[in-house]
Amino acid sequence: MRIPLIAGNWKMNTTVEEATSLVKQMLDDLEKIGDVEKVVCPPFISLVPVQNLLKGTDVLLGAQNVFYEEKGAFTGEISPIMLSGICQYVIIGHSERRQYFKENGEMISKKVSAALRHNLHPILCIGENLTDYESGNTREVVTDQLLSSLSGVNRVDSITIAYEPVWAIGTGKAANGKEANETIKLIRSLIEDKYGKSVASNMRILYGGSVTSSNISEFVSQVEIDGALVGGASLKAREFVEIVKQTAEIKRDLLQ
Ligand code: PGA
Repeated sequence: MRIPLIAGNWKMNTTVEEATSLVKQMLDDLEKIGDVEKVVCPPFISLVPVQNLLKGTDVLLGAQNVFYEEKGAFTGEISPIMLSGICQYVIIGHSERRQYFKENGEMISKKVSAALRHNLHPILCIGENLTDYESGNTREVVTDQLLSSLSGVNRVDSITIAYEPVWAIGTGKAANGKEANETIKLIRSLIEDKYGKSVASNMRILYGGSVTSSNISEFVSQVEIDGALVGGASLKAREFVEIVKQTAEIKRDLLQ
């Protein structure tokens, strides 16, 4: 059985003060919701202050990126050694990093391996852009991104995948739930072909892209979709809590 997961990707938003205030606004309510793993991913400089607030709660912490080297002359980078012990999750290969920072499959697979070596759970992001989507190339692009991002990676079982169509990110134009479910089914079947049935059936695969409290039900009511990676809506305490709450209720009903 896969425990649903809702992760908030705050991206490059919030000062340290705003980050701690946002966590304080949602923490009590999040703690009351069971049967869902709850993760917040603030910017690097807020990880430690937020970690302090989360101590003793069941809300987990994630970083938004990591470098693949452990230490050395890599000005401006943060290594997995620095993150381990502070957070449990790390988002890797987000489309914004692929687009603006030119991250490719090779770099991303190195990051995934490095994170796993230091006991961080990667949330690996993949997804097609609008041109690929409109020309019917979603399957090819997603397959290629998945396989290249996992090339040489061991312990694939500790990875969560976030399927995020690039055209749905930050646009207010979320994907269609059924369609997202089909692509996630494809991702699971690729995982099964390569790593076996048990890895595939235990792997959590999330949807991401313009998720809000008004459309989360469309996604988490799909059997293949195990939760969501939420951007904009995770910056509003009530919205995020509502997304987590609906996910818990819908997944509980699905199991009965
Ligand atoms: P969005 O972002 O919810 O603001 O579309 C999702 C993401 O980029 O992870």
